[in-house]
Amino acid sequence: MARLDMTETFHHISFPGHIHTQDSLNYALHFQFRDRDTVIATYPKSGTTWMQEIVTLVKNRGDPQLSKTVPNWARAPWLEQHYSAKVLEATQGDRIITTHLPYNLLSSALQGSKAKVIYVARNPKDVAVSYYHFHKMAKFLPEPNSFDEFLDSFLEGSVSYGSWFDHVKGWTSQAGVLANGLYISYEEMWLSLAAENWKERRPKDMLAFGMTSEIYLRERMLRDLQGSMERISSFLHCPLVGDELTNSLRHCSFSSMSDNAMVNYTQIPKEIMDHSKGKFMRKGKIGDWRNTFTEEQIGIFDTVYSYQMKDCPLTFMWECP
Ligand code: A3P
Repeated sequence: MARLDMTETFHHISFPGHIHTQDSLNYALHFQFRDRDTVIATYPKSGTTWMQEIVTLVKNRGDPQLSKTVPNWARAPWLEQHYSAKVLEATQGDRIITTHLPYNLLSSALQGSKAKVIYVARNPKDVAVSYYHFHKMAKFLPEPNSFDEFLDSFLEGSVSYGSWFDHVKGWTSQAGVLANGLYISYEEMWLSLAAENWKERRPKDMLAFGMTSEIYLRERMLRDLQGSMERISSFLHCPLVGDELTNSLRHCSFSSMSDNAMVNYTQIPKEIMDHSKGKFMRKGKIGDWRNTFTEEQIGIFDTVYSYQMKDCPLTFMWECP
């Protein structure tokens, strides 16, 4: 099946051309945020769809009606994509806006705005693997060839949406979200939200995350199963109670979202996403990179990571020994 992988280069970053234009990208840069907007910013494959679902559920107090009837891209449109202007301008009241743009491109539009910004980051090794598989199915992205080749492009930042390192460093800076927004990792969400049957899965999870039991306990991630949902809902000034919380947790689980046609992209035609090449809701795990990376790739990745992140003051969960 032919690929639609024309690209739109904007500020030295390539974007998939079938959903971005120079006009749509410029529109994002000069966007007028409203105080009631919630902005979800992510590098691709870091838990964007999951956060769109969580925010939708929180805003609807756990009622899944909207998440089960309206596609995620319509209820939480990507600011930089060509269809979003029409959707966003027609929306009254609370808006959920998604973006993959790096912080430096959105900083002036966000300056002075009271929009609530949530940034989700994920272990870049898992992002790379997830992104590689996504390239195989997404016809609007270039053919990734081998994982080795893809990993080179990922590390040099020449993949669509640019460098993971620049994205994470920009958004997690003081100016980005640390001072006024919410920074949360996919791993925190996973450990506190996705660990269904957590008691049984606990030893396996620990291994996947490369943690000793001592660190695991100290990191207290499983002490509070609902921690992430509560953090997000209180940040949005929408604290959930009783069934609202239980329902939100249920509907944003991996199994529930995998079955939800409004978020699993199964309704996207095969010319755009070839579902015979994989699933959008693929594995939803932490530490799955271990099944793909060779020892040599780990070495190269770690060297680039240390160099790129040397000035970053934050310690990320995936950096735990
Ligand atoms: P995998 O490919 O590793 O399975 P994005 O929405 O940013 O494109 O990210 C997609 C990744 O998030 C995929 O990762 C997908 O499976 C995972 N994901 C989506 N919803 C999830 C959920 N409820 N729980 C855990 N992972 C989820």
